[in-house]
Amino acid sequence: MSAEVFKLTRIPSLKTVEDFRRHVASLDIDLPCEDQIASGPESPLAQPCAGTTINGKTIENRWAIQPMEGWDATTTGAPTEEVRRRWQRFGESGASVIYGGEAMAVRPDGRANPNQLIINEENKGGIAELREGLIRARKDRFGDRAADGVTIGFQLTHSGRFCRPHDKKRLEPCIAYRHPILDRKFGIDSDDVVLSDSDIERLIEAYVGAAQLAADAGADFVDIKHCHGYLLHEFLGAHTRPGKFGGSFENRTRILRDIIDGIRASGNKIDIGVRLSAFDFVPFRPDPAGSQPGKLGPGIPEDFAHCLPYKYGFGVNPQHPVEYDLTEPLEFMELCGQLGVKLLNLSAGSPYYNPHIQRPAAYPPSDGYQPAHDPLIDVARQINVVREFKKRAPKGMAIIGSAYSYLQEYLPHVAQYVLRHNWTDMVGLGRMTLSYPGILADAVTTGTLATKSICRTFSDCTTAPRNGLISGCYPLDKYYSAKPEFQKLKEIKKTTGV
Ligand SMILES: Cc1cc2nc3c(=O)[nH]c(=O)nc-3n(C[C@H](O)[C@H](O)[C@H](O)COP(=O)(O)O)c2cc1C
Ligand code: SF4
Repeated sequence: MSAEVFKLTRIPSLKTVEDFRRHVASLDIDLPCEDQIASGPESPLAQPCAGTTINGKTIENRWAIQPMEGWDATTTGAPTEEVRRRWQRFGESGASVIYGGEAMAVRPDGRANPNQLIINEENKGGIAELREGLIRARKDRFGDRAADGVTIGFQLTHSGRFCRPHDKKRLEPCIAYRHPILDRKFGIDSDDVVLSDSDIERLIEAYVGAAQLAADAGADFVDIKHCHGYLLHEFLGAHTRPGKFGGSFENRTRILRDIIDGIRASGNKIDIGVRLSAFDFVPFRPDPAGSQPGKLGPGIPEDFAHCLPYKYGFGVNPQHPVEYDLTEPLEFMELCGQLGVKLLNLSAGSPYYNPHIQRPAAYPPSDGYQPAHDPLIDVARQINVVREFKKRAPKGMAIIGSAYSYLQEYLPHVAQYVLRHNWTDMVGLGRMTLSYPGILADAVTTGTLATKSICRTFSDCTTAPRNGLISGCYPLDKYYSAKPEFQKLKEIKKTTGV
């Protein structure tokens, strides 16, 4: 299979909403938007999120900051200056929900990199200060009352197949099951790295302990991360695993049930969110036929003909695994409702093996591939999937959507539409937060955007950590442009062909 080369229409070249609409129509996708940015109290973005309370608080507006890690904590998992600055900027965004802050490992071996935050007794004070710094920054920008208007959660994680706890370049995987494509792609050739059921039981205790630490540190909720190919997401697709954590839907969701039961049995009343990859595809790779020296080829699926029906993912069509199947993910939402989960944050796929479905970009990260089609198609897929969840969401649960950053100038226009038409409860901002945390606060207060700060999806914030550097918006955030790492990053980009 070989991808057609296509010429990308860049968003800044679409000068008006009408141009944007015409372009969307030419792609034959369902991605509506409003005519203008609506400022003031009538804006759909400024409305409270009725029906869901977190830690007894009303959600005051409709945008959330997605978890965004920076590969920049200390090697003992404590915050540094960079981490504190990022959290302050989360506060300056004016978002009413800080969904997770960033991935925090529940155990040192579960880190995705040696500089990931670890939520433990030793780091509890530093993590509590992140929350306090965020609230202070929010107050400084929006006034004293703003301190009460924000709900802050911590994202609890174990990186599973993508653990690199000791060396940025060395995977130390802990996996749910052997995968015919990912094992080859990431060099796994033995069952030794498959976690046993008793390993999992110990891990569940670590999550319960981490939820208590989060409550002690002042979090309003914890996110039990089930996305992006990390461990608990992988377990949702553990169809081929024997024993009590694999096979049936009931077994594959046992970890979530046991973690929540454990949290409640310990007397911890903290609210709970789940970030879910709502669908998945097979892994992708750059098309060798379309690659040139110094330039990655467009993305094509890895060959999957030898593993059909495809039993190695969650929310993926087993007969045609480059399409989604929402049957089980919707069942999972229902289960979350029964377990009292109040926030369901929907994402997709994995940044390690199919980044285009997860974080649509004009420019690929160094371990990715050139877009094989317009990234708006990938944005629209996530938005329309979220709409399906929202239609069926249990009472009291708020749905948060992802992957809006690629919309750039038209992010507020699309966000207003999907909120006004009830396609989602909240819009979540990822990369845009790194370059322009106040984008939606500006939209709501002034109706205009600071064009120079808009994230252009250069993927430097992904390419940097993939090559051992801290993450950040190097091209647009002067704090990072001024760092020596930016020069290193430019060299890396030249050699990796992005
Ligand atoms: C540098 C970087 C760090 C990220 N860190 C996390 C993380 O810690 N946890 C998580 O669930 N998602 C993480 N994501 C994914 C984002 O939360 C978000 O889903 C993704 O970037 C797509 O949204 P966007 O289009 O607004 O960027 C990260 C993404 C980037 C680019
Ligand atoms: S480096 Fe900056 S502009 Fe590029 S994707 Fe990340 S946030 Fe956006």
